[in-house]
Amino acid sequence: MSRLGRSTSVLLLSVFVAGTLAAQDAAAPAAPAAAPAAAPTTAAAAPDAHASKSWAFKTPHGLEDVMATAPNDNPITKPKWSLGKKLFWDKRLSPQGTHACVSCHLPERGWTDGTQFSVKADGTINTRHSPSLYNVAYNTAFYWDGRAKTLEDQILAAWEGQMAAKGKTAELATKINGIEGYKKLFGEAFNTTGTVTPEQIVKALATYTRTILSGNSLYDAFANGRKEALSEAAQRGFNLYRTKARCSICHPPILFTDQGFHNVGIGLTGGPNDDPGYGKVANHPSYNGAFKTPTLRNVTSHPPFAHNGSFRSVHELLKYFESPFAGPNLDPVIKGGIKLTDPEKADLDAFIRCLESADDPEVASKPDLP
Ligand code: HEC
Ligand code: HEC
Repeated sequence: MSRLGRSTSVLLLSVFVAGTLAAQDAAAPAAPAAAPAAAPTTAAAAPDAHASKSWAFKTPHGLEDVMATAPNDNPITKPKWSLGKKLFWDKRLSPQGTHACVSCHLPERGWTDGTQFSVKADGTINTRHSPSLYNVAYNTAFYWDGRAKTLEDQILAAWEGQMAAKGKTAELATKINGIEGYKKLFGEAFNTTGTVTPEQIVKALATYTRTILSGNSLYDAFANGRKEALSEAAQRGFNLYRTKARCSICHPPILFTDQGFHNVGIGLTGGPNDDPGYGKVANHPSYNGAFKTPTLRNVTSHPPFAHNGSFRSVHELLKYFESPFAGPNLDPVIKGGIKLTDPEKADLDAFIRCLESADDPEVASKPDLP
């Protein structure tokens, strides 16, 4: 079957790339990986005089150097990162002081909120589940339907929409800058003493968000040549993952997402109220019901799953994949369903657990706010 052949070659390529990255450290930026980065530029080449030459965020093993994912006009610097971390936790960014980014993206819940649908600052309920923020630095599109093209665009939209700051961002920026401790932090991050702009707030938030990473897993050790890092059950699971179970076609290493949009039938009824997902963004009905493939790195840390938060476990999702909702746009890869025996499901589960990693405490710890 050519389909299985393709997934195996994707995998082999990715293992090779992961292997070449193994020795990376902050001083020796990694070679570009096969997986596309948001912007293939380096912070060192950025025209920002405040980009620290000596500081680099240390990327976990197995991932492309995160410093290289930042756009030219927003390089990752230590002062901007420190400021962004505080802002991420600060409810004063919402007009009523009710919501911060962390309200819906909690580190202890895999950077989601653990509920099916969160409540926005304006009191309305989201129609899609809060996704995890792991490895969004490498995303090529944002949101479940890919409607935002850059992380900066996405974060401005989240601030305006989720946090009800639309039309008030300039006013909120001034208010935040009026808080004594923040004035100094903005000064260090952007070398200004004057007005703080919403754009600067977004840039700082994006800098911090880029460092929410999941790598350095047992899988990464395995891909780097330490075969014994995966138990026998996990190795059997990995085999299934790239053959019979077909997962690697849409969730290939290194990122365990192909960054694509697929219709796997979740949440669909065939009725007029179905969420069109990527179909609306691509403006083409053949994509109706397609959603962005989420990463499976650290996926076990943040149930419920899928754009509508309708699965409480990986096991429930595997059960669904046995006979997915077969609408007209169902991805051919899962047509007819993915049918696995119970022992096979257990092996697959063992493999997916090998994609777990602990958060960097420097990133995930709650900051003191000014
Ligand atoms: C009230 C809850 C809520 C708040 C507050 C919130 N978000 Fe989100 N976030 C969501 C939901 C829901 C989505 C998915 C919406 C969709 O796909 O249509 C999302 C999507 C995202 C994504 C896209 C991830 C991806 O893989 O595409 C990022 C990044 C993100 N949020 C960051 C932030 C940041 C930074 C803040 C603070 C400025 C923030 N969010 C505030 C609920 C929230
Ligand atoms: C045809 C492409 C495709 C295949 C094959 C596929 N997936 Fe997915 N997967 C997706 C898409 C797209 C989503 C998001 C769907 C949604 O939100 O409606 C998803 C969602 C998930 C999620 C939820 C993650 C989260 O953060 O919410 C898990 C877990 C998952 N898949 C595991 C698997 C496993 C395990 C396999 C192999 C048995 C597999 N997938 C096969 C495309 C695929």
